[in-house]
Amino acid sequence: MTVRRFLLALALLVFATPAFAQPKLEPADFLLPDESKMTPFKDRVPVLFVTSNQPEWKSLKGFWTEGTQDEVDPATGLKVTRKVVKLKVPLGLTQPPTVPVENPITAEKWVLGKQLYYDKVLSTNGSVACATCHAPDKGFADGAKSSTGINNALGPINSPTVFNSAYNRFQFWDGRGTSLEDQAQGPVGNNKEMFGGKADPWEEAVARLRTNPDFVKAFNRVFGHAPTRDAAAKAVATYERTVLLGNSIDDKAYATMRKRVTEEESGKFVLKAEDYTNVLKAEFAAKSTALKDIGLDAEKDAAKAEESGKRILAGRELFFNKARCTNCHTGDTYTDHGFHNLGIGAKDGELPLGEFGRFVRLPTGHKDMALVGAFKTPGVRGLLWTAPYMHNGEEKTLEAVVDFYDRGGNVNAWLDEKMRDTTAESAYIKDRAAGKPVDPNVKTYGPTKKPIIPLKLNLSAQEKADLVLFLKSLNGEPLDPLVSDPTKFPAR
Ligand code: HEC
Ligand code: HEC
Repeated sequence: MTVRRFLLALALLVFATPAFAQPKLEPADFLLPDESKMTPFKDRVPVLFVTSNQPEWKSLKGFWTEGTQDEVDPATGLKVTRKVVKLKVPLGLTQPPTVPVENPITAEKWVLGKQLYYDKVLSTNGSVACATCHAPDKGFADGAKSSTGINNALGPINSPTVFNSAYNRFQFWDGRGTSLEDQAQGPVGNNKEMFGGKADPWEEAVARLRTNPDFVKAFNRVFGHAPTRDAAAKAVATYERTVLLGNSIDDKAYATMRKRVTEEESGKFVLKAEDYTNVLKAEFAAKSTALKDIGLDAEKDAAKAEESGKRILAGRELFFNKARCTNCHTGDTYTDHGFHNLGIGAKDGELPLGEFGRFVRLPTGHKDMALVGAFKTPGVRGLLWTAPYMHNGEEKTLEAVVDFYDRGGNVNAWLDEKMRDTTAESAYIKDRAAGKPVDPNVKTYGPTKKPIIPLKLNLSAQEKADLVLFLKSLNGEPLDPLVSDPTKFPAR
């Protein structure tokens, strides 16, 4: 079907050259641009990311700052001065998101992408938008255990947040999407998300877009042709790429530490409790809403800054050491971009076929048993807004998540090696072979009776509380209204 559509599109393009008659039907998937319909080069506004390690970052007043830049117009060879937008990437995200060469960001494309993201036009009966399940006031997720889409269809899986999805190497819990552009095409054709029609969902969606003169105008300006699936996916991805979350209490403490160590000239770039405390003191002075995230009252709790600083640092150390969270949650967005079986969805030691996750998506010839029941490691920023947790939404609170890890996850035949006590497993196997008594509670699998022993963390109540507090300190600063308020657009 897709091959046929591709050939049809190609044939139509060939026949669209002046030597042939104009085709009656325009392909929905893609069209070639007519430069004369596009916003002229000199009026196009490129959007650039500026990260905190660039000197310019500090001087940017807000998330979206307009400036100018000299460039050579490729069509005329003449120098032009055109407008440019600099996006202030939040603290903690040290790299700019990767932008595909074929989909450069311009202000106009971003505006179109934002409109499409919040418009219900992409769903067959006009009832659902991307924002229905990825709502800015619900942490760009939907707050439900699993999502409800078109005609109240209940989906099977928890809606992941769009926060920082620009940095994901894979999209979807099982990684079947490779880019935001790729991902954005999925929901439109999904009969539990946005599609309730009969024929080809994208042909229908594109036809709807083409009946709207405003969209037709906007697509022409940005892409030089009528709405297509390719262009719609590019525009939506462009907006999503700017849904960036950072500037958390932890990010600020890290920046404070770097400044302190540089001033001390000690060369020891290690966080101390005082770094958190100093950040908290500044937050109290500013009556910041971030204090509420970590359970402090901006009016009354200033005296608790020191103790809280110590507790967050203790939580951080657990995250990076004893609780071994960084085995998988690592880097700026706290993910290894890998897939792991934690046993989410397993019952009484058995994993149902429907929960095979990444394994199912691996191409035939590349099936890896280590990825049976494995799901993508999600980032852990913004957790206070994105409950419930895990791919099936089975954990309601951060306390429950920590308890889950404390007991070593849910035992099943394919539990990730990093979740297992492999030393205890070897000892069990040796003892059994030697005919010594073994723990009857250990679950064993397959003809070889392979024991699976979850690695318990043995966290005390105080340690659990500290770890949860650290996760809360990662929550981050609410996004700029330009990104999170569906009605706000940059002034022209
Ligand atoms: C009916 C609810 C629903 C709608 C509508 C919807 N999504 Fe999703 N979205 C989900 C669910 C559920 C998943 C996870 C699916 C999976 O992993 O199998 C998801 C996954 C994603 C992801 C991957 C994030 C990650 O970390 O893997 C992105 C990005 C995304 N959606 C963006 C969009 C965009 C853009 C649209 C509109 C074109 C959209 N969604 C429409 C529910 C929805
Ligand atoms: C072996 C890798 C691994 C380790 C170790 C690990 N995680 Fe995870 N984490 C994952 C994966 C994979 C998921 C998603 C699992 C699923 O839904 O099936 C996840 C999910 C989560 C979620 C839910 C996020 C959401 O948006 O739903 C939180 C919170 C979390 N982990 C925190 C932690 C903490 C805290 C630790 C340390 C105690 C930890 N993780 C250790 C891999 C890991």
